[in-house]
Amino acid sequence: MKEKHITWHEGSVMKQDREKMKGHKGVVLWFTGLSGSGKSTIAVELENVLHASGVHTYRLDGDNVRHGLNRDLGFSDDDRVENIRRIGEVSRLFVDAGLMTLTAFISPFQEDRDMIRSRFDDGEFIEIFVKASLEACEKRDPKGLYAKVRRGEIQQFTGIDSPYEPPTTAHIVLDTEKVTVEEAVQSIVAYLQKHKYLKG
Ligand code: ADX
Repeated sequence: MKEKHITWHEGSVMKQDREKMKGHKGVVLWFTGLSGSGKSTIAVELENVLHASGVHTYRLDGDNVRHGLNRDLGFSDDDRVENIRRIGEVSRLFVDAGLMTLTAFISPFQEDRDMIRSRFDDGEFIEIFVKASLEACEKRDPKGLYAKVRRGEIQQFTGIDSPYEPPTTAHIVLDTEKVTVEEAVQSIVAYLQKHKYLKG
């Protein structure tokens, strides 16, 4: 931290008050996985289902956030670390606002995901590993990016010439080579119900 002369200013409306008004907990659902693994697709569909059942949500997506807040960042290791740090902090604010926050970022490094987790209270951070082999992601290639990588038009691409460290402590693992989007969404909803994140 650069600035030393700053103090935290506490409000009198607390997270618990906001959660009470909304009728559910504030929590982050942190999706991690390779490009093309299905993070965004599942997060979008999950948000539809949650919204339809009265849950207050917000979704943060790698490609979208890189158009604005993080437009100054590229894909070097350092930039990815900073990308994830900022998203972690933004997620904390949304969770404090009492929202069910869905984040879809590759977030390739274990250390960074652990750092984000440590910034949340117990139970406020749910890590979801969207698992698919590099071969499957490359075959899907929804944005045509793997083809560009193979043509030499993109460097430092995750899984090719930039690392991805699969999580070892994910709360939920979704193997998208085996389950459909609907099944993936249902298993997350079941987890949220089981752990009492949703209304009565
Ligand atoms: S992260 O590694 O810093 O977490 P983030 O999720 O924000 O990545 O952005 C990944 C998205 O950016 C990918 O889904 C893809 O559409 C796009 N992208 C562009 N260049 C790259 C690259 N070199 N590596 C990975 N993704 C890239």
